[in-house]
Amino acid sequence: MAVELKQLIDAALAARGRAYAKYSNHPVGAAVLADDGNIYAGCNVENAAYPLGFCAEANAIGSMVMGQGKVIRHIVIAGPGEHLCTPCGGCRQQIREFAGKAGAPVTIVDREGTVLLETTSAALLPHSFGPENLS
Ligand code: THU
Repeated sequence: MAVELKQLIDAALAARGRAYAKYSNHPVGAAVLADDGNIYAGCNVENAAYPLGFCAEANAIGSMVMGQGKVIRHIVIAGPGEHLCTPCGGCRQQIREFAGKAGAPVTIVDREGTVLLETTSAALLPHSFGPENLS
């Protein structure tokens, strides 16, 4: 496995370990490799007022923006079990914003870090609406 992918997977697993998921018991971690070469990670952060929780992908993207990363080159998502933890619809749109229309690789791993799915953000959100659609 390429060193870069292993680093991203390790970052997603570590982020999942920080998840605040006491209501769903479904901790998720995400790690973004950005255009600046840095890895930005995030976990889901839930809330007693349930709809106010944030997904791991959204928090990883927020971290990227704060770090001045501008483009998602690759994102790894680590779910809590052996089943696929594919990004929710809202997160697909958030990833699309920073991965562009052509998209970026999306890798989903299980709780051990074993790769379950390698796809792209464009495949996850076909015919997407993005910044270009506003111009
Ligand atoms: N969750 C994520 O963090 N990312 C996803 O793509 C799917 C779902 C979180 C939201 C919530 O805290 C928990 O997983 C159960 O839905």
